[in-house]
Amino acid sequence: MSRQKNLLLTPGPTPLPPQVLEALSRPLVHHRTEAFAKTFAQVLEDLKWVYRTKGLVLMMTCSGTGAMESAVVNLLSPGDEVLTVSTGAFGDRFAAIQRAFGLEPRVLPFEWGRAADPDALRRALRERKGARAVFLQHTDTSTGVVNDVKALGRVVREESDALVVVDAVSGLACEPLETDAWGLDVVVSGSQKGLMNAPGLGFAAVSERAWKAVEAAKLPRYNFDYRIMRKSLDALETPWTPAISLVVAQAEAFKLLRAEGLEAVWRRHDELAAHARRELTAKLGLPFFAKDPANILTGVVLPEGVDGDELLAGILREEGISIAGGQMKLKGRIFRLAHMAHISKADVDAGIAALAARLAKARAR
Ligand SMILES: Cc1ncc(COP(=O)(O)O)c(C=O)c1O
Repeated sequence: MSRQKNLLLTPGPTPLPPQVLEALSRPLVHHRTEAFAKTFAQVLEDLKWVYRTKGLVLMMTCSGTGAMESAVVNLLSPGDEVLTVSTGAFGDRFAAIQRAFGLEPRVLPFEWGRAADPDALRRALRERKGARAVFLQHTDTSTGVVNDVKALGRVVREESDALVVVDAVSGLACEPLETDAWGLDVVVSGSQKGLMNAPGLGFAAVSERAWKAVEAAKLPRYNFDYRIMRKSLDALETPWTPAISLVVAQAEAFKLLRAEGLEAVWRRHDELAAHARRELTAKLGLPFFAKDPANILTGVVLPEGVDGDELLAGILREEGISIAGGQMKLKGRIFRLAHMAHISKADVDAGIAALAARLAKARAR
């Protein structure tokens, strides 16, 4: 077995820049100290910068799913009407969390590979009024689709008083997102994708309107109670022990993002996605899965008779390159090549070369 590389070409976790790796290995500081408070304050400012908001952004110790759950329990009460847009596995996850807390979400499903249609959302809001919140994805990582969050948010505002809740776990710092300018109420994310950090931090940007809902919400919550988190912020603390190393590492990742500039980061993703698709077409010649593709990854449909899971396991075993397979109903049928965060053009080329070689072998069998 040769393992020259340990390359993540997956849409989370993503590879870590050396500066972030170094920060993760530093001796721990205690979290109730001036030194930690200074780093924490900086990261909170950095989060506002990346979210494009003047409002508070909260930090939690959890993965993206925890941040999704935090939005559900902080905004809603038993019996609330909820409209959940689903463009793939993560829309379904929002609905599953809502059901776990006794809610009965109305799910508005879209064909996998397609973005949510703002007109269909408008019709759904007109057909049944009274939704307390509309939940949707910025990018759905299972299908590689990007939603027009600006247009969807506008429709919700025009048709209802519902809060707009966005899962930007895989889209933040990769694709354009304007929390304030697009009128988004809660936007959740995580550390292990566009933010170029290890997994373990969850984030939620909370609008003024959303804070009113947080005060009124009746669903049970404790670990994820936004009110408790906000109170601790006065002392520049988190209510519980934070993932100290991850916060320190996040500060380093933000230095890199800030040095590049957010619009330049978005542009880089756009260019790398175009490069990846050109190369995939030239070297593999297989159809892409998404009709409304995001810049974070490209989903590629495998030929009949090729077992996707086996193909990717072989590439990992022999090349040390991780590429994601399909999720749920796409398991074994597609692969998802990520081109986001700290992934470079050379990384993408290495992944495509490995895929081309392995596919040629699989076809020759
Ligand atoms: C769009 C989206 N939402 C939510 C999640 C869940 O995040 P986690 O796996 O960190 O809990 C993911 C992770 O892949 C994601 O891509």
